[in-house]
Amino acid sequence: MKDTLDVYIENNKGRFIEELKDLLRFASVSAQRSRDAETAACAQWVRQHLADLGLDSDLVDQGGQPIVVARAKGRGPGSIVIYGHYDVQPEDPIDQWRTKPFEPVEQDGVLYARGATDDKGQFFAHVKALEALIKTQGELPCDVVFLLEGEEESGGEALVRYVRSDAGRALKPDALIISDGDMNNEQVPAITYGLRGIITFEIHVKGPGFDLHSGGYGGAVANPAVVLTHLISQCVSQQGEILIPGFYDDVQGAAQWELENMEALRFDDEVLRREVQAPALIRDPEHSTLERLWVRPTFEINGIYGGYQGQHSKTIIPREAFAKVSVRLVPGQTVDRVRDRVFGFLRDICPETVTLELTFTGGGPPVVFEVDTPAMKLAAEALKHGFDHEPVFIRTGGSIPVVSTFSEVWGCPVILMGLGLDSDGAHSPNEHFSLTSFVKGIKASARLLSTGI
Ligand code: BES
Ligand code: MN
Ligand code: MN
Repeated sequence: MKDTLDVYIENNKGRFIEELKDLLRFASVSAQRSRDAETAACAQWVRQHLADLGLDSDLVDQGGQPIVVARAKGRGPGSIVIYGHYDVQPEDPIDQWRTKPFEPVEQDGVLYARGATDDKGQFFAHVKALEALIKTQGELPCDVVFLLEGEEESGGEALVRYVRSDAGRALKPDALIISDGDMNNEQVPAITYGLRGIITFEIHVKGPGFDLHSGGYGGAVANPAVVLTHLISQCVSQQGEILIPGFYDDVQGAAQWELENMEALRFDDEVLRREVQAPALIRDPEHSTLERLWVRPTFEINGIYGGYQGQHSKTIIPREAFAKVSVRLVPGQTVDRVRDRVFGFLRDICPETVTLELTFTGGGPPVVFEVDTPAMKLAAEALKHGFDHEPVFIRTGGSIPVVSTFSEVWGCPVILMGLGLDSDGAHSPNEHFSLTSFVKGIKASARLLSTGI
């Protein structure tokens, strides 16, 4: 059985790659309203592709970007839901790309395009696995439902609303499969059993009613950009330590087996340093780099702006300044408590010389799953088949906000089997995806879907 699937995949992989390129040509940037038509067109392409494979395929409107829901009936009982997202991050800074972000280019077995690894290449591997099963066997062991959202990258809530609706609840599967993350390295696949949570928000500091001459008024009128940097530097140190009183109170540490597991993964800080081309990494005597990435919270500025950005200098006190911030959460912390604590602290320390506006833009709680379950074993076996290597268990620093809703509403096993690499440049210029991983991922998924649940 496995042979016919793998043979089909080998014989058709050239076409699979061409189809993935078609999918990558949509600039489905969910964060940008000006791209809504293209995001919708992408959803429509995905729906049609699944319909052509014989799935009962719909676009669901829950406000925000459309959700693709596509069902294939199986011969036996049981069902699997496969989650993914067809939206992508903005492509900027555009001048840092060596090829065009929405014109996929294949080079030495690697496909370059925005969304190649995050997440179009990864969810499309499952689509092609399902195709292999349908075409070679004509039937599936259990129901398979694709649930593909279009606003994962912008913290949208449409899918959360859908999963909580009657139709969403009724989808409750026996297992949920997600490929939207990383392997341990190119040879070693991984099952991710924990995601950090996140909150994102914007800080808007307003001072005078209009930009002022910094000579004429400097000394009397507070500078919003200066105040903003002080507000933020009271929240976080240069080493990334969060300075907000009580912030770490709820943080749960890693279990002993996890610390041993992290140790056994032999993470190499120097490889990471070179990969990101940073002069040095943050050193923390109390926490290893893996702990800092996976089990500790963070406070990051994602963007900061205000005042004159043009050529040469312009001596002003800008009327306002902004920052976009994300805070990563770990088990023990909740979205509401962290938001209230951070917002409360910022309001407390803000001087009366400016006004402060805080806008919450989304988030989701952290999740950790049990590793010792039958579903995890099935997934491990499938990954071993596809990649010819036993998978390891990892956590990740990234977040997929809707995942906590899945496990709360459905209470089913969740299997995160990332097919990417942390060096794929997700969210960065020159994002790419290994076509070897793509094909191996299809084989792993086909094995899993053919086993059923
Ligand atoms: N696929 C990522 C999350 C991820 C990253 C999982 C690395 C595993 C390893 C996802 O698309 C993502 O980027 N999520 C955002 C969520 C945010 C916009 C609310 C994130 O983590 O920043
Ligand atoms: Mn993703
Ligand atoms: Mn992403």
